[in-house]
Amino acid sequence: MEKSVKRIVLLASGSGSNVENINTHFKENTGVSISCVLTNRKNAGVLDRCLRLGIPAIHFNKIAFKDTDTVLRFLRSLEPDLVVLAGFLWKIPEDIIAAFPNKIINIHPALLPKYGGKGMYGHHVHEAVKANNEKESGITIHYVNKNYDEGAIIHQAKTTILKTDTVERIAEKIHGLEYEHFPKVIEKLVFKNG
Ligand code: GAR
Repeated sequence: MEKSVKRIVLLASGSGSNVENINTHFKENTGVSISCVLTNRKNAGVLDRCLRLGIPAIHFNKIAFKDTDTVLRFLRSLEPDLVVLAGFLWKIPEDIIAAFPNKIINIHPALLPKYGGKGMYGHHVHEAVKANNEKESGITIHYVNKNYDEGAIIHQAKTTILKTDTVERIAEKIHGLEYEHFPKVIEKLVFKNG
């Protein structure tokens, strides 16, 4: 591959609808390539999606991620311009963060610093937003540091939450924001790095 092509590596634990959306966004962009999708869940829907979409994907376990430098060495070998957490639920080890300064970003389905931290992911976030009768929620795209959901914020977008919105409807609204904003932010950052 030409050196000028920007390389993105994605980490995902769930269904991978953001991975698919990011892939669709960059399909026509010959300057950006998705090198690989890494998942920590053997049965994650994202693996089926990657198979269908023709994106290289691999599964890794905790030993490879936290106890040894297997994943770190694999990531290094991919020479990514940006590492993107797209629904990835494990905390990133400090040696990986140190190896890719300002190159690891995450999307969180709420307006951080609200509804962040350990255990706050996916539907848990939307359930808490509903339980607290929030009038708005949104997404936060941020750099990753050693604490869950605490890195510097890059971009936020909001949506109104109605009293009548169910948790499923809130999730739908948030996913809509993610699909609209995440690829654009990734594109901006990937060309800034390097
Ligand atoms: C997304 O909504 C993302 O914001 C959230 O997981 C979902 C993954 O959906 N991430 C977190 O909650 C991280 N704390 P997807 O698998 O359909 O892309």
